[in-house]
Amino acid sequence: MEEVNRVLGGGIVPGSLVLVGGDPGIGKSTLLLQISGILSKQTHKVLYVSGEESIRQTKMRADRLGIDSDELYILAETDVHVIAEQMEQVQPKVVIIDSIQTVSQEDITSAPGSVAQVRECTATFMKIAKTKGVAIFIVGHVTKEGTIAGPRLLEHMVDAVLYFEGERHHTYRILRSVKNRFGSTNEIGIFEMKEFGLDEVSNPSEMFLEERAHGAAGSIVISSMEGTRPVLVELQALISPTSFGTPRRMATGVDHHRVSLIMAVLEKRVGLLLQNQDAYVNVAGGVKLNEPALDLGIAVSIASSFRDKPTSPYDVVIGEIGLTGEVRGVSRIEQRVLEAHKLGFKRVIVPMKNTTGWTAPKGMKVIGVESVSEALDAVFGGKE
Ligand SMILES: Nc1ncnc2c1ncn2[C@@H]1O[C@H](COP(=O)(O)OP(=O)(O)O)[C@@H](O)[C@H]1O
Ligand SMILES: [Mg+2]
Repeated sequence: MEEVNRVLGGGIVPGSLVLVGGDPGIGKSTLLLQISGILSKQTHKVLYVSGEESIRQTKMRADRLGIDSDELYILAETDVHVIAEQMEQVQPKVVIIDSIQTVSQEDITSAPGSVAQVRECTATFMKIAKTKGVAIFIVGHVTKEGTIAGPRLLEHMVDAVLYFEGERHHTYRILRSVKNRFGSTNEIGIFEMKEFGLDEVSNPSEMFLEERAHGAAGSIVISSMEGTRPVLVELQALISPTSFGTPRRMATGVDHHRVSLIMAVLEKRVGLLLQNQDAYVNVAGGVKLNEPALDLGIAVSIASSFRDKPTSPYDVVIGEIGLTGEVRGVSRIEQRVLEAHKLGFKRVIVPMKNTTGWTAPKGMKVIGVESVSEALDAVFGGKE
């Protein structure tokens, strides 16, 4: 799976211990069983240990996912010593432990899922991975209450930490690396959950822009670097007068502190009277983004909703905003613009600093701006 390889920094490293965390029901077992299927088809022996489902249930899942291989072994077991014995017998190259919260070691008295158990079991698997040279993936459920030991506890013990995320009501899922001893972090892999399993999404921008409302005020498309890949996403803002009390500042998918700061800049440097306005800023599709280059998009979406003026559906804005209202340069401008071009956008508004040293694709108009006001003039067509 190309998307998994990228997140792992090229592929699976023998002898490595990888933690795959995520909310219950997000698709961790599905993903790992599919990976097991692919590896075993390539004649690598895989042992998939389930502490949550019976062999029959796992087999049914494998059938639904279209997995059929002589090299894939399923074990329903929770005792770490029995698992280790089975590993001795089967001699797999890759082992999946699903999940770390269900397994236990009898020499530790506390219950499965407790801090002591989760920690000790992980340490045992680490030892096995290193001495035998097998790659071990452990699944960890992210737990809401701090009472059951969650994946956070294990982050420092393992070689790589991947999180599988997504919104319950959307079909896409994102695999994100937050730690990787063998590669770079911040890479993401994007999948769509379908009836027959997870499908790789090779053109995420297209998917994120699918439901975009053309010509609506408060909407603008930005280009965010997710690892080494630019992704185009729609930002939406809704600005409405506060009816009582302190104005609300709500943000989903972007940092709400950043939204407050940008609103202060719009107030002070552009003269938009936002102090008595509620603000809701949302990344369409529910992706989480965290990148300075989104700033200008946040500013434009807020101004667009506040003025009730739609932006052009053919514009993409890119830029970081400083406290004086200046638009600062961003990384990898060429790649971001190329992605916008690929998806049919006609115009990009970028930091002035980013306008030299590269050539825009044919048919793409590049407008360099030095300040937020200039950017708003460019987007909404001239001064007001
Ligand atoms: N029988 C099924 N038919 C179709 N989709 C299913 C079926 N069973 C599970 N799924 C899908 O898989 C998801 C659960 O994935 P799973 O891999 O079990 O999650 P996790 O291991 O993270 O708890 C469900 O939300 C659903 O979308
Ligand atoms: Mg599961």
